[in-house]
Amino acid sequence: MERYSNNKLKVGIVGCGFIVKKRHIPAFQKLKKKVVVAAVCDKGENLAKRTASEYAIPKAYSDLEEMLGQEKLDVIDICTPPQIHAPLAMTAINKGCHILMEKPMALTTSDCDQMIDASHRKRVKLCVVHNVLFHPPFLKARKLVQDGAIGDFIGMRIFLSDPRDEMVMRKDYWIHKLPGGLLGETGPHTVYMSLAFLNKVQNVDVYARNFLEHHWAPFDEFRIELEGEKAISSIAISYASNRYMANVDLLGTEGAFHLDLQGMLLIRYPRKESLSTLSLATASLSTISQTIGGLVTNGFKVISRRVKLGHDVIIEKFVDSIVFDQPPPVLPEEGRETVRVMEMIVDRLHQKYGKRES
Ligand SMILES: NC(=O)c1ccc[n+]([C@@H]2O[C@H](COP(=O)([O-])OP(=O)(O)OC[C@H]3O[C@@H](n4cnc5c(N)ncnc54)[C@H](O)[C@@H]3O)[C@@H](O)[C@H]2O)c1
Repeated sequence: MERYSNNKLKVGIVGCGFIVKKRHIPAFQKLKKKVVVAAVCDKGENLAKRTASEYAIPKAYSDLEEMLGQEKLDVIDICTPPQIHAPLAMTAINKGCHILMEKPMALTTSDCDQMIDASHRKRVKLCVVHNVLFHPPFLKARKLVQDGAIGDFIGMRIFLSDPRDEMVMRKDYWIHKLPGGLLGETGPHTVYMSLAFLNKVQNVDVYARNFLEHHWAPFDEFRIELEGEKAISSIAISYASNRYMANVDLLGTEGAFHLDLQGMLLIRYPRKESLSTLSLATASLSTISQTIGGLVTNGFKVISRRVKLGHDVIIEKFVDSIVFDQPPPVLPEEGRETVRVMEMIVDRLHQKYGKRES
């Protein structure tokens, strides 16, 4: 082990926007014994400088090549818009850096293949931030389903909603330029969540609407079906309401789970014996008591500062995978598979509704 036992891993972050400040820097700050964020880089020079000063990061750059030329970095964390994930990753891999990169890994599978080949050639780790897989209720549900807690897995339903002010209303936001528009931003989350339970997705269908009728966002409501070898995932993605929602239902032959990924709750629905009033009331009481129990536990975690979100978990596991020379928590092949299914969805969208660009 322990190429880094005496030295902390030196991380450089590219992109100083929303997700870096909200999740990546806080996650690295919790790993102070193992990691130091040595430099940040943003093409907006002032933003890079402000970020460095706000988080006491020693150096700020406006160009990745310059940062790599000046600093000796072990890890590059790529948090730019997806359109430039691949070229930035290739530059850093060729300098021998391990790569953590935000979802989606890239926009095409051929870009993913190039990165995977280069990472093998340079013997560096490449990990895509599929953070929702590491939210505590999702981790727990995945293990329980694997262990047969709800019998044979039948299928799942995902409902994600992002408030319209966050996405749709921002006319010049880069997400409108992604393949599939808004779908290209949230879609990858729903695909990798589905792939945690489905395999070999070969058929997809998609329905789309433009509810708010902004010309820069050709669609703002999506319904997607993913057909795996043995199960189907039904996905609803909404950008038209003013709500954040993130719910997942998992159905098995002997029961079901409901995950509230905003409240970080896992509710179990055991096999129902009858539709009698007593049986229905008992089931409702069970749901209420599980919700209250989960909220109390989460409340204690918040008070005692022991809350770990998906980003905290995956970033710590990624750092450990380097220190102990283990596979990263999300394999680049999983990132590629997500991109492959996203390509299928976007192709289907264009086939059905024509290629509407923003
Ligand atoms: N996992 C999650 O939950 C989650 C949530 C939000 C965003 N994301 C992902 O994170 C990534 C960034 O999203 P965001 O919301 O932080 O975007 P953002 O627009 O807030 O920030 C992106 C930053 O990258 C900078 N940038 C662009 N090109 C650059 C370049 N060539 N070199 C250096 N900097 C450059 C921009 O100036 C900007 O400051 C995207 O891939 C997005 O899909 C993930």
